[in-house]
Amino acid sequence: MKIAVIGCGYLGAVHAAAMASLGFDTVGVDVDASKVERLGRGEPPFFEPGLPELLRAGVGAGRLRFTTDVAEAAGSDVVFIAVGTPQLPGSDAADLAFVDAAIASLEPHLGAGMLVVGKSTVPVGTAARLAEVVRPTGARLAWNPEFLREGFAVQDTLAPDRLVYGVEPGDDAAVERLDAVYASVLERGTERLVLDFATAELVKVSANAFLATKISFINAMAELAETVGADVTLLADAIGLDARIGRRFLNAGLGFGGGCLPKDIRAFQARASELGHADTLAFLGEVDRINLRRRDRMAALIERELDAVGGDRVAMLGLAFKPDSDDVRDSPALDVCRHLQRAGRSVVGFDPQARETAGRVLPSLEIAGSVADAVRGADVLALGTEWRDFRELDPVEVAQWTQARVVVDGRNTLDAARWSAAGFRVVGLGKPE
Ligand code: UGA
Repeated sequence: MKIAVIGCGYLGAVHAAAMASLGFDTVGVDVDASKVERLGRGEPPFFEPGLPELLRAGVGAGRLRFTTDVAEAAGSDVVFIAVGTPQLPGSDAADLAFVDAAIASLEPHLGAGMLVVGKSTVPVGTAARLAEVVRPTGARLAWNPEFLREGFAVQDTLAPDRLVYGVEPGDDAAVERLDAVYASVLERGTERLVLDFATAELVKVSANAFLATKISFINAMAELAETVGADVTLLADAIGLDARIGRRFLNAGLGFGGGCLPKDIRAFQARASELGHADTLAFLGEVDRINLRRRDRMAALIERELDAVGGDRVAMLGLAFKPDSDDVRDSPALDVCRHLQRAGRSVVGFDPQARETAGRVLPSLEIAGSVADAVRGADVLALGTEWRDFRELDPVEVAQWTQARVVVDGRNTLDAARWSAAGFRVVGLGKPE
């Protein structure tokens, strides 16, 4: 089977490498020549554990190549659409320009027997619209949303929790083709759901909306905990023991960021409004506001601690939106740096992987090459991303590098007892002081 993947960003590059690892002859297509060139050498243009090995294996075996020429998708059995659907500037809606452009460029190369499979996160109704565009070529369309998490992308692609196929009624051929693509995933006993287009599209956006809601719920509890002197982590542990609630995604702190959850809950509300259901998803506006308020709270706590010691300089440990990633799209940590800079504070940041990406997005930020360099001369330390490297720091050693004696832990992840023993006061979000 021949497979093409249009769009070699986060989703597409991982998907193409995964397809090649399953033994398929795979071509990745992207308009960005430098990205194509790097991927062709087996080098991902972003940090993702396990991906370099998978890419190099595919490229080395001659099963995986990358090109800017969409004509090379011609004759493929399956063409995945994995382009981005970012937030439209000046609006909450998703920008479908890349999806539409991908389909338009692909159209002359489609023919009978080919299956176009959308993976991008799209507003409900998009698949039905695109199916009309694809149909006259003789090809068919299916929608197969992706649930991978950055940092676990390879594992989530090859061993997902579930596979969702959105197909037109009675399109058994599309189901069979997708089953053939995912045969080795299905062999592991992975649940596979065959749905209509609208349900498949909604599964994706509602899953992300639910996850965002779960995080903002616990962060709302953190706001209350701060007022009454309760501990949100212990609260999460206690309610999480109820299997109906579950402990996962109840980590209070700086909240969610990244290229998916924030823009997806906004696009979902925008789509609901278009459909006459603005009220139905109005609560997601609150989810968004709670999330953003945590960034203000963190900045306020840092400022309070700076003022308390008459200092001005803060070291932010962690700049990526989450650990094991160099992605700084809508990064809460970077946003806090921005707030503090605007307030006239001096901020130095460090991240194990996101130094370059952070420097591009916030060029005014001073970026250190190590934790020791970041904390030297700082008056207050802050933790913005829960990298394992930070959890494993020896606070006794850190105390020798810096005069700071307070850490504002934006992810409630440091071992407060160890840091206290080393002379630091640890201030958390939603924790008693
Ligand atoms: C998210 C979803 O988890 C994936 O299932 C989905 O496929 C993906 O979006 C997508 O739509 O492409 P991702 O953005 O990689 O994946 O990151 P998550 O692990 O969901 O984390 C999102 C944010 O929430 C991070 O900033 C993280 O720090 C924060 N978070 C997560 C919390 O603040 N608390 C938690 O308990 C969990």
